[in-house]
Amino acid sequence: MNHRVLITGATSGLGREMARQLARQGCRLALTGRRDDRLKEMVKELGADVLPLAGDATDPACVKSHYASIKAAFGGLDWAILNAGTSASADAKERFSADDYRLVYGVNVFGMANWIEAVLPDMLAAKTGTIAGVASLAGYRGLPRSGPYSSSKAAAIALLESLRVGLRGTGVRVVTVCPGFVRTEMTARWRDADMPFLLEPAEAARRMIAGIAAGKKEVAFPRPFSTFVKYVFRNLPNCVYDRVASRGTRRRLNSGGA
Ligand SMILES: NC(=O)c1ccc[n+]([C@@H]2O[C@H](COP(=O)([O-])OP(=O)(O)OC[C@H]3O[C@@H](n4cnc5c(N)ncnc54)[C@H](OP(=O)(O)O)[C@@H]3O)[C@@H](O)[C@H]2O)c1
Repeated sequence: MNHRVLITGATSGLGREMARQLARQGCRLALTGRRDDRLKEMVKELGADVLPLAGDATDPACVKSHYASIKAAFGGLDWAILNAGTSASADAKERFSADDYRLVYGVNVFGMANWIEAVLPDMLAAKTGTIAGVASLAGYRGLPRSGPYSSSKAAAIALLESLRVGLRGTGVRVVTVCPGFVRTEMTARWRDADMPFLLEPAEAARRMIAGIAAGKKEVAFPRPFSTFVKYVFRNLPNCVYDRVASRGTRRRLNSGGA
C-alpha cells in the first residue's frame, strides 16, 4: 500500500500502532500529537517517510498550517485517520464541570472537525480520499461517570454519519471507527472501570486498518461485544438500562475507583 496517510494522535496508543503498521506497509505518514519528543522517537523508529507535526488539534490555525505542510511534502492525502482523543470522568453527584466537557469536546469533536475542514476541499477537488474518524462503542449510550467522553463520542458518531451521507457520490469516503476497550494510556487512567474484551493496541490497530482498507462504512469491534452494544445495549428501554448501568457505577464507587 503506497498511501499518503495522516494519523492524528500518533504519539501513543492506537495512533502509534497504526503508524507502525502502515509504515511497514509502505505508506508515507504525517503524524500529529502535542508531544514533540514522542514524534521525534517515531521518526527515528519509522524512518524518512514520516512527517512529524507537533501541535494541538483543538487549535484551528495549527491544524491549517499542519495541512499546508502535508500538502507541501506529499501533495495531498489518501487517508486522514482522525484518531486524537481524550477523556475525563467524574461522578455527577460529586462534581459536574462544564470545563471537562469543553476539554473533551475540544479534542474529540472540534479537533476532528478542524481536520475535516482542512482536508476535505482538496479531497473533494480530487474526487477521492478517505476520512476515518475514531469514535468509540462508548458513544452508543450515555455512560455514567463518562458523560464528557461518551457524549463526545456520540457527537463524533453522528458527525461522521452526517458527513458520510452528505458526501455520497463525491468519491470521498467517510469511515466511522468504533473500538471497544483497548489497553492504552487512556484506559490506564480508567483504573477501576470494567473493561470486557480488552484488546492490545497492535490487534486493535490491525482491525482498524483492515476495516478502512476494506472500504467499510463502520468498523466496530471486537465482536460479539460490538454487536451487543449496538443492537442490544443501545436499545434497552431506559428503565432497564438505568438499573444495569448504575449497578456498574455503584460497584466502582464502593471500590473507591476513579
Ligand atoms: N483505548 C480505548 O479503549 C479506546 C476505545 C475506543 C476509542 N478510543 C479512541 O481511540 C483514540 C486513541 O486513543 P488511545 O486509546 O490510543 O489513547 P492515548 O494513548 O491516550 O492516545 C491519545 C492520542 O491523542 C493525542 N491527543 C490528545 N489530545 C490532543 C490534542 N489536544 N491535540 C493533538 N493530539 C491530542 C495524544 O497525543 P499528545 O498527548 O501527544 O497530544 C495521543 O497521541 C481516541 O480517540 C480514543 O477516544 C480508545
